[in-house]
Amino acid sequence: MKVVMIGAGYVGLVTGACFSEFGFDVTCVDVDETKIRALEKGEIPIYEPGLDDLVASNCKAGRLHFSTSLADAVPAADLVFIAVGTPSRRGDGYADLRYVYAAAEQVALNLSGYTTVVTKSTVPVGTGKEVARIVAKHAPAHAEWDVVSNPEFLREGAAIEDFMRPDRVVIGAESDRAREQMRQLYRPLSLREVPMVFTEIVTAELIKYAANAFLATKITFINEIADLCEKTGANVQHVAKGIGLDGRIGSKFLHPGPGYGGSCFPKDTLALAYSARQHGTPLRIVESVIDINDRRKLAMADRVIDAMGGLSVVRGKKVAVLGLTFKPGTDDMRESPALAIVPALMAAGIEARVFDPQGMSNAKAEIGVGPYYASSAYDALDGADCLAIVTEWNEFRALQLDRVKSLMNAPVMVDMRNIYVPEEMRAAGFTYYGIGRGYTGQSILTGQAEAAE
Ligand code: NAD
Ligand code: UDX
Repeated sequence: MKVVMIGAGYVGLVTGACFSEFGFDVTCVDVDETKIRALEKGEIPIYEPGLDDLVASNCKAGRLHFSTSLADAVPAADLVFIAVGTPSRRGDGYADLRYVYAAAEQVALNLSGYTTVVTKSTVPVGTGKEVARIVAKHAPAHAEWDVVSNPEFLREGAAIEDFMRPDRVVIGAESDRAREQMRQLYRPLSLREVPMVFTEIVTAELIKYAANAFLATKITFINEIADLCEKTGANVQHVAKGIGLDGRIGSKFLHPGPGYGGSCFPKDTLALAYSARQHGTPLRIVESVIDINDRRKLAMADRVIDAMGGLSVVRGKKVAVLGLTFKPGTDDMRESPALAIVPALMAAGIEARVFDPQGMSNAKAEIGVGPYYASSAYDALDGADCLAIVTEWNEFRALQLDRVKSLMNAPVMVDMRNIYVPEEMRAAGFTYYGIGRGYTGQSILTGQAEAAE
């Protein structure tokens, strides 16, 4: 079978490369010529572990191709996937569907024979119907087609593993022909006993949003429990373990931190909440999660300011911020907590010295001038009055503490990912603040009092 993947981004490039690894002939099409030219030369435009080898081997085998032309790629395709961006719309937070609809129109104009048109982008309930309407309007009379929804659940940083070993594959299809094509495409996974959930298009669309909103809620729940742990002296990591061992709760996504970020949870919770309001059934839990998460990012800046002695004394002091991406294993800065934390610190008059192993170039584009962009963790630490760990990259887990201490002006650490052990850090001479197990101080930006462990 021939597959066309529209959008060679984090999802399109990974899923396209994985389908070619299954043995299918895949063409990734993108409007971004620079991206396609780079891919043709063997350069991978994003950082995703293992993707370079996967792309190289499948290109070499002649199964993976790149193009900027849908007119060239679509007519021969059996399946066309739409994997373009669906960012938040300015103003109301609903998904901006213009790229999806533009792609659907371009696909329709080039259809020939029978083609399954699959939406892989995360799209609100009802989008499939609109895609079908657009295709019907623009497709040539001789073309036959079906529209399918096949949302993607991969995580950045673990994208290939997530795609190759997913918990499930969700397929919204409403004709036997389309269902059969999707079955054939995912046969390599069903042979491995990956569950396949076949349902209607609207349900598949809602499954994706419900999954992301539930996971965002789980993270927000443990973040609030972490705050309570700080007031009561309880240890959030033990609470997470103690509740996570209950099979009905599960241990994953119970790591407290500076609030969830990324290209999915923030925008998808907003779009779901908007969509629910439009349908007259507001999702109050999701609305609260969005609000709590936004405040949490700013509250993290408070913690750093507190750790440095409070708002009245921080002007002119230096903070080393380690980790800028929204999670490790990616260069993606979209909605990263660092984008709220670093500007808030600078607004308080603190000099920010920032470093990230993969996110520096995207961080410069997002944050711009202001921080000192360091060449390494140790360069960032030079003369710092506080170390703030925002993202838990492996290389920050085993910093040489003696070297850190000798470089810093004051050995103060705010560890937003709990990657160090409080007792060990105190024994090493650090004033250490973790999450849910040891923060003491007065919140400034949120105006809430925080209490000691
Ligand atoms: P991305 O911004 O990395 O990539 C989108 C690509 O689509 C860009 O390269 C852009 O140039 C291209 N594009 C836009 N319009 C086009 C058109 N008409 N024709 C061809 N190419 C076009 O986005 P992403 O992170 O890959 O996300 C894509 C979709 O997948 C979104 O709906 C997102 O919510 C969803 N999703 C993302 C993730 C993730 O981890 N990033 C996970 C699951 C689902
Ligand atoms: C997410 C979903 O997990 C994935 O299924 C979907 O397809 C895309 O969105 P991703 O955004 O790549 O994936 O990363 P994820 O690992 O889910 O982390 C999202 C955010 O939540 C990060 O900022 C991360 O640091 C945070 N997080 C995650 C926590 O704070 N605690 C946790 O326990 C887990």
